[in-house]
Amino acid sequence: MSKKKEKRILTGDRPTGKLHLGHYVGSLQNRVELQDEYDTFLIIADVQALTTNFDRPEKLSEDVRQVARDYLAAGIDPEKTTIFVQSLVPEIAELTIFYSMIVTVNQLRHNPTIKSEAEQYGYKEMSYGFLGYPVSQAADITFCRANLVPVGEDQIPHIEQTRKIVRKFNNMYGEVFPEPEALISDFPRLMGLDGKNKMSKSLNNAIYLSDSKEEVQQKIMQAKTDPARIHKDDPGHPEVCTVYHYHEAFNSEESDEIAEKCRAGTIGCVACKKRLAEKLNAFLDPMRERRKKYLENPELVDQILMDGTAKAREEAQKTMEKVREVMKIDYFSK
Ligand code: TRP
Repeated sequence: MSKKKEKRILTGDRPTGKLHLGHYVGSLQNRVELQDEYDTFLIIADVQALTTNFDRPEKLSEDVRQVARDYLAAGIDPEKTTIFVQSLVPEIAELTIFYSMIVTVNQLRHNPTIKSEAEQYGYKEMSYGFLGYPVSQAADITFCRANLVPVGEDQIPHIEQTRKIVRKFNNMYGEVFPEPEALISDFPRLMGLDGKNKMSKSLNNAIYLSDSKEEVQQKIMQAKTDPARIHKDDPGHPEVCTVYHYHEAFNSEESDEIAEKCRAGTIGCVACKKRLAEKLNAFLDPMRERRKKYLENPELVDQILMDGTAKAREEAQKTMEKVREVMKIDYFSK
């Protein structure tokens, strides 16, 4: 019999398209590794996706399934992890409203991730929903009383906000929620193929978990390397080279040797890139294999999401019962 896992993880993503290698090293890898140890919940945050994509709701149904397939392909096991859809757990929206009474507008305005996203999207004025999404994220994390939240480093302010809400709630009404902690990976920020920015879909500099062998090869061959290397035997500077950073992340066994050879000018960029493409494809192959089953049987993905959502909802209802009790809004239940 499997032993009952005592601690919980909740984390997830906005469904806004395909997941890439940055998502993998930033958080997905931790989730796959920790699902044996923790009772893991993965949220596909479709309502949060609407905070920026409210004018494109027709994309959601495919994007939700895309993220689910990326999770399953990456090695998330639906027997161990509950994958669910945010909008189908209305208790999260309810909890968001209760939390919104104990968060100030100023706290939200000063959230650095909100600020940089508002800039990135060119918002002169923010919608109430966008400014407030960290409150809804606190409800995502706490509805199942999660202890640990594996995320990329841009999410730290949101976890801090969640902790503040939890402390205030517990102080005021009684201990209902554990104070969750962020878990940041060893590679919190993977550079994009342009070598300038972090890997991101909107910057068109990403390698996707669902890319084919040929796409991976092509993207790597075009990746930016050390600009000081013009000839094959020029001494290189691996620390400024994107390709080298990928070797560190995905070919750690060989990365020291590659750095040495690059510095000595005894390995050329083309050979170095070819080796990386091979390694990356070997890493992605098992994902491709798993993905095939779900692409061929889309109903499997839908069933996993429906089952996961039912389980998440049960947890949410248990939590809300307690919340209503401590907030004394359980008027008719005694
Ligand atoms: N804000 C996260 C992102 O943009 C997605 C998210 C929504 C999330 N709810 C969450 C992450 C709860 C961790 C926990 O990637």
